Amino acid sequence: MTRIFSGVKPTGHLTLGNYLGAVRQWVEVDQYRAEALFSVVDLHALTVEHDPARVRRLSRQAATLLLAAGLDPERCTVFVQSHVDEHARLSYLLECTATDGELRRMIQYREKGALARAAGESVRLSLLTYPVLMAADILAYGTDEVPVGDDQAQHVELTRDLAVRFNQRYGHTFTVPKATHPRVAARVMDLQDPTSKMGKSHESGAGIVYLLDEPDVVRRKVMRAVTDSGREVEYDRAARPGLANLLDVLAACRGAEPAALAGAYTSYGALKKDTAEAVVELLRPLRKRHAELVAEPGHVDEVLRRGADRARGMARSVVDRAYRAIGLLPAG
Ligand code: TYM
Repeated sequence: MTRIFSGVKPTGHLTLGNYLGAVRQWVEVDQYRAEALFSVVDLHALTVEHDPARVRRLSRQAATLLLAAGLDPERCTVFVQSHVDEHARLSYLLECTATDGELRRMIQYREKGALARAAGESVRLSLLTYPVLMAADILAYGTDEVPVGDDQAQHVELTRDLAVRFNQRYGHTFTVPKATHPRVAARVMDLQDPTSKMGKSHESGAGIVYLLDEPDVVRRKVMRAVTDSGREVEYDRAARPGLANLLDVLAACRGAEPAALAGAYTSYGALKKDTAEAVVELLRPLRKRHAELVAEPGHVDEVLRRGADRARGMARSVVDRAYRAIGLLPAG
């Protein structure tokens, strides 16, 4: 059976980008068609300045949102990365497989590293090595497919390279995974700056729709989205990124084609209004279920406990095999 692994890192509140780019696929398709694991990858939240209490809070919130979005713990495994030691255990072996050059080339390292330096902050070594930990997340489970938004494509490429290299050097150990992306909205852009990705940890939240935003907040953010000069509504990602982003979001909500939707509008205002309402309706059941789950935290904890037990059982044999293959003496 196909094995799927994906994750979300608790560095901020989950956004519409996370949902359309990744989580929706997990909920609607992946958990039904494969043996799937979805993780709140909390170790990844420690690569930049962080507040321990906030990371803890956001980790529980992310797990609650994944369940509220519709991940069914009877069908898939939902767990917190740090509850399963195998990720960190395998990461070191992959650090011994990767080169510093290939990690320094990672776009996210270059961007986030530059931001930190500009703010006068030091850059944590883990920001550089983070894609190796991500590779370990994926490879520890013999993963075939990694459903992610576009921004993670380079990291999955690195994961493939490391798997192939390890297998060539030490004998076949890892399945070589591939990334899958949603057809529409694989990269939702910031509503205030449609040339940059809608990200959890952006400075101001004005261009970001958070999954838990109140309906009126969602409406306000979408209605104030930056559009391009020009009058006609046409779908052109390069020349009209603001408009294309709204069309992508609306198309993703409706299961339609963005270019086809463009023809149905003669004004930006009408497009914004429909997009705002479509997003509000998309998020309504999720918000409701989230409120219910928050009222029973014991349930979420229990799901995570069982999820970690199951994940540990799956990762153990792969990681043990990698330890033997690379030349480490078995403990006996
Ligand atoms: P993270 O937490 O930034 O994002 C989680 C998922 O949401 C997708 N995504 C988006 N998709 C479309 N438009 C956007 N604006 C947008 N923003 C985020 C991401 O592509 C991702 O699929 N490194 C990963 C977490 C991770 C992981 C893994 C993923 C760690 N280990 C192993 C897969 C497998 C990350 O930072 O995702």
